Amino acid sequence: MKTIPEQIIQRFLQRTPKSQAMNLRAQRVLPGGNTRTGVHYAPYPAFMVEGSGAQLTDLDGNHYLDLLNNFTSLVHGHAHPALLDAASKQLSNGGVYASPMVKQVELAELICDRVPGVSQLRFCNSGTEATMLAVRAARAFTRRSGILKMHGAYHGSHDLAAATADPEADCGIPDGLRQNIFFAPFNDLDAVENILAAHANEIAAILLEPVPNAGGIPLPRAGYLQGLRALADRYNVLLIFDEVVTLRLNEGGYQKIAGVTPDLTAMGKIIGGGFAVGAFGGTADIMTQFDPARPGHIPHSGTFNGHSVTMAAGIASLAELSRSEINRINALGDRLAAGFDEAFAEAGIVGKTTHVGSLVQVHWRTGEITNMEDVSDGFRGAGDLPYLLHLAMLNRDIYSAARGEYNISTVITDSQVERAITNFNESLHELKPYVAAQFPALIAD
Ligand SMILES: Cc1ncc(COP(=O)(O)O)c(C=O)c1O
Repeated sequence: MKTIPEQIIQRFLQRTPKSQAMNLRAQRVLPGGNTRTGVHYAPYPAFMVEGSGAQLTDLDGNHYLDLLNNFTSLVHGHAHPALLDAASKQLSNGGVYASPMVKQVELAELICDRVPGVSQLRFCNSGTEATMLAVRAARAFTRRSGILKMHGAYHGSHDLAAATADPEADCGIPDGLRQNIFFAPFNDLDAVENILAAHANEIAAILLEPVPNAGGIPLPRAGYLQGLRALADRYNVLLIFDEVVTLRLNEGGYQKIAGVTPDLTAMGKIIGGGFAVGAFGGTADIMTQFDPARPGHIPHSGTFNGHSVTMAAGIASLAELSRSEINRINALGDRLAAGFDEAFAEAGIVGKTTHVGSLVQVHWRTGEITNMEDVSDGFRGAGDLPYLLHLAMLNRDIYSAARGEYNISTVITDSQVERAITNFNESLHELKPYVAAQFPALIAD
């Protein structure tokens, strides 16, 4: 008699033999069989070979409802006709020239019109570059090196973004870098104030996601972002919002929702219409540092910066992302989160979601979730349950991040959201006897 974990894993293995073989082949040339840490999960990830609308298809021909959307970048799902059309028209004119390009101006105008904190911007190729260059802009502007960031935050893969408060965990990141990084828990204004009181003359900027998505979606407490703005002003440091993910929540990003305007904003994902993209922007006095005609400007080059195909698809992406579409997918996110919460309650398992608009995160705990420590606490107590729930959902044709992250694209329908909730409910019921035997604390009274 197989255990419940064995049954779930066996079902996944039965469904994905071609992915298993491809994973073995991949491991010879790609360490671990992949080129992106976040897409790995055990026993091996299914290889996706086709995306169309809200559907992904794997190498074995299984179809999935995509509730991950390339970690939020595909806000219009896969192969959206308007984006395809824009990109292919541009491609037939050649995609990239070593000159300024008209499409860059058009997309920059669209973003500057929408996002309150962005009067000028520069394009780059990823959110990683966007946060790296926003930090460089802040350092050059203030002539200080320190950056205050939040524990557990994700801002991409450059050294400063990847550095944590734990030197042991930071393989490959120079120790010296840590001297310039200050950490505070998210949602703790006192901690920020204490650091600024002691070190303001060393600190260039506070860097944070206004709602940490990879950090488990703890919502900013009332007054928190306003308080950070006030502290930044009082101590004369810059405020950088990483809106690489949260830009999708409103036409003007989360800064528009919160009514808090940062000095610099890092962007990416949805502004590239599915292609590799990043942008960083802010007030003209900060951004003018990049003007190449200016003596002592900050050099910023990149062979593919502002690639016209990306720009064309990005313009189409933002044109399709009207206020009403944003409201619609945010409401579907509300429904998905509420449905998952009801499923936990109905199954009698301790768990809940946090969510903001179209972004949803599953937790294996209840109670208030205010920062990344609260998030980790839930995962620590759940052992292999997040992993098994993810596989159980894949076995039911629902695609999400292994860490329990879901998001909604504009091609997802009400009935698909209901299907995901039903499948979540079934997956929890499948797991329940295992939860009861191995994690009795997670059985609700
Ligand atoms: C908040 C945030 N910042 C930065 C990045 C890095 O973006 P990219 O993966 O395009 O380098 C990500 C990626 O997921 C992100 O979620």
